[in-house]
Amino acid sequence: MSNYQEIHQQSLNDPEKFWGEAATGIDWITPPTKVLDNDAKPVPRWFAGAELNTCYNCLDRHVENGRGDQNALIYDSPVTGTIKHYTYSELTDKVAKFAGALAAKGVGKGDRVIVYMPMIPEAAIAMLACARIGAIHSVVFGGFAANELATRIDDSQPKAIVSASCGIEPSGVIKYKPLLDKAMDIAKHKVECCIVKARPEQEATLQAGRDYDWEEVSANAEPADCVTVSATDPLYILYTSGTTGQPKGVIRDNGGHAVALNWSMKNIYNVEAGDVYWAASDVGWVVGHSYIVYGPLLKGCTTVMYEGKPVGTPDAGAFWRVIEAHNVKILFTAPTAFRAIKKQDPDANELKKYDISCLQSLFLAGERCDPDTLFWARDTLKIPVVDHWWQTETGWAIAANPMGIEPLEVKPGSPTVAMPGFDVQVLSADGTEMADGEMGDLAIKLPLAPGCLPTLWGNDQRFIDAYLTEHEGYYTTGDAGFKDADGYLWIMSRTDDVINVAGHRLSTGAIEEALSGHKDVAECAVFGVKCGFKGQLPLGLVVLKDGVEREYAELHSELILRVRQQIGPVAAFKMVAITKRLPKTRSGKILRGSMAKIADGDEWVMPATIDNPMIMDEISDTLNGMGYPLDEK
Ligand code: COA
Ligand code: AMP
Repeated sequence: MSNYQEIHQQSLNDPEKFWGEAATGIDWITPPTKVLDNDAKPVPRWFAGAELNTCYNCLDRHVENGRGDQNALIYDSPVTGTIKHYTYSELTDKVAKFAGALAAKGVGKGDRVIVYMPMIPEAAIAMLACARIGAIHSVVFGGFAANELATRIDDSQPKAIVSASCGIEPSGVIKYKPLLDKAMDIAKHKVECCIVKARPEQEATLQAGRDYDWEEVSANAEPADCVTVSATDPLYILYTSGTTGQPKGVIRDNGGHAVALNWSMKNIYNVEAGDVYWAASDVGWVVGHSYIVYGPLLKGCTTVMYEGKPVGTPDAGAFWRVIEAHNVKILFTAPTAFRAIKKQDPDANELKKYDISCLQSLFLAGERCDPDTLFWARDTLKIPVVDHWWQTETGWAIAANPMGIEPLEVKPGSPTVAMPGFDVQVLSADGTEMADGEMGDLAIKLPLAPGCLPTLWGNDQRFIDAYLTEHEGYYTTGDAGFKDADGYLWIMSRTDDVINVAGHRLSTGAIEEALSGHKDVAECAVFGVKCGFKGQLPLGLVVLKDGVEREYAELHSELILRVRQQIGPVAAFKMVAITKRLPKTRSGKILRGSMAKIADGDEWVMPATIDNPMIMDEISDTLNGMGYPLDEK
């Protein structure tokens, strides 16, 4: 570990030297003179005073350096039967034109633009176009419902929305425009301009004076030049789930983000310019931002944008086909995608049809990689499989196996070691460091590495309360785990009410809000239960208002539909039962964690603060009635 250890130590001992050197990988308009401003509030800031343009670093500079004819983006869409290649020159032109179209609609530096799009090249083009003119994009995942979209419209107050007529799921065409119209209706903030990419699978009705056709506005646009922005100006806002129903607007700045992602491409993923990199995720998630769009393009790689699923589009050989067809060197996805493939094709018979010798390593993140999935992937692919731990907030890996520095021994179940810039410590509730092997809060000593969030959009106080208050001088990750004697990190659970369903991060609080809005529900609790396929699934318990008598099947359907309509289908909310009472502490806090343990069949102890221990027996009976704990764990 000597090489890694030395580099990690250098990054903590002399962060200015370390990241100052890494910053030379970026083309600056005004190069950084001060690498780290330790006095900035609420947290230290990277590269204050420096200026750049992220889109220039992703596109124009590669064209200027002779990569114009290299593929920048390959769009592979089994759901529409399309494969399209965009060279760096072509992508630069398309982005410049769309940036011009946005500018012509009055979008300028600092304005917000919501991007609500499926996995089509126009999503990346819209993001890069915003970066080009200094506008701040906020991509909202296509699986979110109108209500969630409206919340994000009101929080970010966008000047424009960019969308498409539809997304395509294996289950069929998802019409986006009605969702969008509904969201714009619900939102208090009124959006003046909405640009819609029409897809052949679905027409969209455009409202005169507000809605515009993507092709029309792009065709007539003057290409826009790159605008100079400060390293500390926001590049994007990405909303993520917190404990409450109100999502947190994570801000990513331009300078630190460009430096960190560019550095990560070689040192973590071990790729060079010209290599093909594929993150099979969605632009709606942080993985999509960092490793479908920005990371690979900053480095001069070819990125693959895949509109399909690991299985069902058309079969469990889908990933292998894409790897062979596009000469993919690195695949990055969530463990749940591999569980889906393993479930359908346990002996990997589909793999025999393809030559995937180009694939160098597989990277997994988004949820803990269970050892079974790791072994299956490793035995099947016969290449290194790297679990790495990160969050929307950090934008890149807090812990990983740094394949470009030196591949370290793999310990199944651990995402390996802290990356440079991250001083990860395991703390007890009173802030003392835990001994090796002992569980505690996973906290990162400030400063956070470049690329991590500097605050939440328009809400420094929420940022301070949510992340900086629990352990002074540290960022609280919301994850609990331990460090072993070799310095490996083990991420075991969340400390808040966030759950992870098929790699999608969801707030149980938001689901509870949707349930409690039902006219017959007095109160409710939602918690995550283990699922062998999706990792976790949300389970809801509702208490009905006094005197209400409902037929269960009907109420069940209404509640499921409410969550689907208010949160979205990705919540995969299918389990809800009626119970007489909910277990609470004497101060009224619902004991979700204890109920989750009962459902999972884990050991649990009656909380000392419980108000009425008898309720736990009732809950146990209700959960048994739902089939929990499962026979097979
Ligand atoms: N737009 C609209 N709806 C969407 C959507 C999108 N972008 N993505 C998912 N949905 C819908 C699905 O159609 C499904 O709807 P249904 O209830 O009508 O069937 C529902 O949301 C749940 O979808 P999903 O979580 O994708 O489950 P699935 O059973 O369809 O597929 C996996 C399971 C494992 C294949 C899929 O979850 C997957 O690929 N996960 C990887 C997640 C990931 O990339 N995470 C990012 C971190 S790397
Ligand atoms: P998101 O912000 O959606 O990327 O979700 C981040 C959360 O997912 C983390 O805080 C963890 O709880 C979980 N997570 C992500 N990657 C891993 C991993 N490799 N191991 C364990 N948990 C992970």
